[in-house]
Amino acid sequence: MIDGDKSPDSLPIPAKWATNDLAGLASVPAADKALRSGVPHAWLARNAGTIRSNFAAEFWRRVNGPHGHVVLELPSGMSSVAAAALISAWMGLRPDQIHGDIGGSVSHVVSGVGHRHDQSWHTDSTPWHEPNRYSVLGLLSGSGTEDQSTDLLALSSLRQRLAASDPAAWAALQTEPIEWRRSFPHLADLRAPVLAPQQPRWVWPVLEDLIDKLSPELRRGVGLVARLVNEVTYHSPVVTPSKVLVFDNGRMLHRGPHLEESSGRELIRIKVAGKAIV
Ligand SMILES: [Fe+2]
Repeated sequence: MIDGDKSPDSLPIPAKWATNDLAGLASVPAADKALRSGVPHAWLARNAGTIRSNFAAEFWRRVNGPHGHVVLELPSGMSSVAAAALISAWMGLRPDQIHGDIGGSVSHVVSGVGHRHDQSWHTDSTPWHEPNRYSVLGLLSGSGTEDQSTDLLALSSLRQRLAASDPAAWAALQTEPIEWRRSFPHLADLRAPVLAPQQPRWVWPVLEDLIDKLSPELRRGVGLVARLVNEVTYHSPVVTPSKVLVFDNGRMLHRGPHLEESSGRELIRIKVAGKAIV
């Protein structure tokens, strides 16, 4: 097992974004409500002329670059919840896109509770019709110490090695559909490839359950990915009381820290772009 690289320096959110309009936002339901009613959007529309474009350029350069993420430093007086809501709206999340389907757009993540697969490499929203493109994480409670990193691994670093070592397995990963809603029998089936370009889906328990039913090529591909994730470099940014993380769920695998519920680490997660149900 290799250690994660330190993340590049954080990018400061412009000080004027610490608006009083969002000063009271302290919880996940409050952020959900504010986003549905367009509060952050109204502030952004009123201040569109004053938002410095070099922040936007640097933000997208980092998120769309090889590291696939950016750590944002909060201005003083701004809460993680306010920052996560405002950044999500600024990235293009519209009020009519906020929903509660299959986990919802705005959710409360408690480390060490429920889905332990969150602590292994995965992509978010694998049962969604179109997984969210970006995930925004802010700390609600806990300390955000160095050992509580959210690790991020670029799928591009696996692609070259997969294509070179087993082209047939690589092709199967990109094209052979499998069923992603086995835990949601009340929903229509959703069949999609594991590593479709721009829409990768990777959650080990789902793949492990199906492993005997996969074609030989896809089974080899899944096994190769499961091995290669332990052999390539990754980044280890930390969500803290003053730092919000945005990552590209369409190009990166991620995993949360190995913690028990007693750690008290709680996050707000906002999913930007994508469709749960059509
Ligand atoms: Fe996740």
